[in-house]
Amino acid sequence: MQASNDHILVFDSGVGGLSIIGHLRQQLPQASICYLADNAMHPYGLLDESVLINRVLEVVAKAIAQQQPDIVVIACNSASTLVLPHLRAQFSMPIVGVVPAIKPAALHSESKVIGLLATPGTIARDYTDELINDFAIDCDVIRLGTNKLVQLVEQKLAGEKIALAAYQQVLEPFAQHPLWPQADTVVLACTHFPLVKNELATALPHIKYWIDSGEAIARRVLQLRQTAATEASTQKSQTSATPAGDIALLTENGSVPDNLRQTFKNYGFEQINGL
Ligand code: DGL
Repeated sequence: MQASNDHILVFDSGVGGLSIIGHLRQQLPQASICYLADNAMHPYGLLDESVLINRVLEVVAKAIAQQQPDIVVIACNSASTLVLPHLRAQFSMPIVGVVPAIKPAALHSESKVIGLLATPGTIARDYTDELINDFAIDCDVIRLGTNKLVQLVEQKLAGEKIALAAYQQVLEPFAQHPLWPQADTVVLACTHFPLVKNELATALPHIKYWIDSGEAIARRVLQLRQTAATEASTQKSQTSATPAGDIALLTENGSVPDNLRQTFKNYGFEQINGL
């Protein structure tokens, strides 16, 4: 059972979290979604950890107060690998994070050589080390931290044409690792990257499995909402709130270029407001 008035807050530094939206709409077609982008402080992958924690707490708190969501998705690996415990200590609704999909990648990989593509922040986190130690100890994990690829995705979704050579250049450092020719799997550990999966696959044709967390996150959100709906119906306490509409909120809402506005529209966000 899914409550028809589910309202989901999805948060990222920029357009990356849009890679989760399609999965959420598939799993929870009746839910309304507020997409919050902290474009004023983007990119997150280069921020100091304490600055990032304080910033995420500030903007997410403001959006929660405004939107009253049933559930929050931190659709950002750079933030989730750091701030989830802080957010969960502060808010009572479920907070779902997106963290590098190292476990499924290790299960998929036949050669046991995996590329990990993330922001510089995520690449360096203790959380990422722990995931590798816990779930991929039998694998060689080749790490590549890049902010440039985040920028290329932002540019592409704002309507710019990006040449394949630009993606190839970003991915070049992988090839410096002696085991790279054996890699068969790449983890897309930044929510921006699934938005250019086709380009990445063209640039790296020997990679067989491209793994991201989008579908798993949407399944987790559905599961949590189903549990909440079942509990509410048993307690006969379900409210019949009017469903909130889909909306995108930007922390810097000065002038949204037409192409970016169109991108948000393509994901179902006709309305864009400032936070
Ligand atoms: N989309 C984000 C992530 O998953 C962050 C990109 C950035 O702002 O650096 O890590």
